Amino acid sequence: MRIFLTGATGYIGSALARRLRAGGHEVVALTRDAAKMTRLRERGLHPVVGDLSQPDSWRREAEGCEALIHLGFEFGKRAAEIDRGAVEGMLRSAKSAGAPRLFIYTSGVWVLGDSRDRPLDEEAPLAPPEIVGWRPAIEKTVLAAAGDGLSAAVVRPGCVYGGRGGLYGMMFQSLLTDRKIRLVKNGSNCWASVYLDDLVELYRLVLERRPQRSIYHATNGAAETVRKVAEAFVEAAGGGEVLDWPIEEARRALGPMVDALTLDQRVSSEKAKWELGWQPKMAPAAKCAEALLAQWEAEVSLPSVS
Ligand SMILES: NC(=O)c1ccc[n+]([C@@H]2O[C@H](COP(=O)([O-])OP(=O)(O)OC[C@H]3O[C@@H](n4cnc5c(N)ncnc54)[C@H](OP(=O)(O)O)[C@@H]3O)[C@@H](O)[C@H]2O)c1
Repeated sequence: MRIFLTGATGYIGSALARRLRAGGHEVVALTRDAAKMTRLRERGLHPVVGDLSQPDSWRREAEGCEALIHLGFEFGKRAAEIDRGAVEGMLRSAKSAGAPRLFIYTSGVWVLGDSRDRPLDEEAPLAPPEIVGWRPAIEKTVLAAAGDGLSAAVVRPGCVYGGRGGLYGMMFQSLLTDRKIRLVKNGSNCWASVYLDDLVELYRLVLERRPQRSIYHATNGAAETVRKVAEAFVEAAGGGEVLDWPIEEARRALGPMVDALTLDQRVSSEKAKWELGWQPKMAPAAKCAEALLAQWEAEVSLPSVS
């Protein structure tokens, strides 16, 4: 299958591109940076230089693909506006083909808010913190577009661990450069999380099963506090400190991101297991800290496309 992939140079997207290539798919990979084209080609991908905020820069390539997977994301003040424009552009491309198409949108479990007393499934009401407050409306747009040959899915990953990226990768970075990890609320909250390769497998299953219109959570179901993970990372690294980061100080440094980092979440992914046969394999992050550190060290020493 020919697949249009945004974010193909990013943390999740580059892992997904590798998996799709290994499965024999053709991957049309979007990047803003022409300097990354050679590395993308070396990976067997078809690079397209374009910008999410300018759908005309990638429209034709997207129209020629049977599936479109959106993993690109521009952080910053224009994040919502760019994401909305890119999604609308991709939906237009998918619909204009007049042939069966699949669109997969990447959201995240933060839209759910705190889980309080029970794990949250895909039916749970949403309570997003400000930083992702715009995402539920885009999820709705995506699901509403399904029909007339278009299948549409929303994937909500937990915080991703494995390899070099994500919040857990930042914890290793901070530990190995400053010998400390600072946690807001002392890390007493739980992050719903998912291992990178397990997440990538979920995308592959959605691609294969092609649900008509569906949302899937992608989490490992564990309830480990952020502090427990940080302490396991410190032990794996042979020392370091886990420190409390006073919330107002963290807010001055990180802005509204703090409200996402302090969410206390338990999120169910039973739906992906029943409907898609998804079986996450990796242990929760605190239980495989040494393996994660080894992966992180190996990957930061390699040249990267991102
Ligand atoms: N990482 C997590 O733990 C996590 C958890 C839940 C949800 N998510 C969601 O998953 C998505 C991907 O996350 P990630 O961690 O893989 O992100 P990432 O590593 O920061 O990658 C971002 C990607 O977006 C591309 N990009 C950024 N701005 C662009 C623009 N204006 N035009 C074209 N491409 C652009 C970048 O490509 P170039 O720089 O090559 O152009 C890069 O490939 C995001 O929507 C994120 O919110 C992530």
